[in-house]
Amino acid sequence: MISGHEQRSHSMTEMPASVCPSASPADASGERALVFVARGLTKTYGSGPTAVQALRGVDMEVRAGEFIVLLGASGSGKSTLLNILGGLDHASGGVARWRDHDLTTADDAQLTRYRREHVGFVFQFYNLIPSLTARENVALVTELAAHPMDPAQALALVGLGERLDHFVSQLSGGEQQRVAIARAIAKRPDTLLCDEPTGALDCATGILVLQALEKVNREVGTTVIVITHNAPIAGIADRMMRLADGRIVETVVNARRLEAAVLSW
Ligand SMILES: Nc1ncnc2c1ncn2[C@@H]1O[C@H](COP(=O)(O)OP(=O)(O)OP(=O)(O)O)[C@@H](O)[C@H]1O
Ligand SMILES: [Mg+2]
Repeated sequence: MISGHEQRSHSMTEMPASVCPSASPADASGERALVFVARGLTKTYGSGPTAVQALRGVDMEVRAGEFIVLLGASGSGKSTLLNILGGLDHASGGVARWRDHDLTTADDAQLTRYRREHVGFVFQFYNLIPSLTARENVALVTELAAHPMDPAQALALVGLGERLDHFVSQLSGGEQQRVAIARAIAKRPDTLLCDEPTGALDCATGILVLQALEKVNREVGTTVIVITHNAPIAGIADRMMRLADGRIVETVVNARRLEAAVLSW
């Protein structure tokens, strides 16, 4: 078992903090701490007749260690929501909190610090440097982090312990995505936000990537949110949330999480 983020404090220097009763590890009911809270969250791109209302009042909560799958048609607002939770974009209205910090009033410098210290991102296209090895790609991040994993440890966690010194250009798509996951988790982020991590992969390869995410969630305790278009993937989550037209229209709690290995799509 690899020690995760739970021993770390959740400082975000100069980030506006406000009192949030559930910011402690567990609240009075014994429930796990709230990591994200959104209330009436809205996002409008542009203005005037061409304005697009990407989020129309999202209310959601995510607790520490949860594995959440976000489903929804193209254009329903999934990436917009993830980007606001990850500090990549500003909301237009409402509130989004990470632990006891208000993301909606944070300025760019505060959001940059929040992303760097607390968020790991995984995107559909891996954004790796092909002329570097797997280990070197991960090391680019760990050199900047305060309490990183050893790159070899992060790569072993995603099943690439035998590929440390392979150039990324020599790896398969699924292996490259697992290097991207290793890179994202090596700084021991609080949360891992994944936008269609299996979108460019066939089912068998996608399962290997999901198994890596499962393992990080179970063994490191990282809170994971995964956007996907493949509805069966919702089976591996604690909860599935479905977005439609900028709102969460359905939430399903899985009494029992499936193993990624049994999925097909
Ligand atoms: N930078 C932007 N400028 C203007 N409109 C945008 C921008 N980003 C997203 N939108 C619009 O906001 C809406 C929600 O987009 P978003 O990318 O969140 O959808 P999505 O659910 O992630 O879709 P997909 O499954 O296709 O990735 C869409 O109508 C989109 O066209
Ligand atoms: Mg998207």
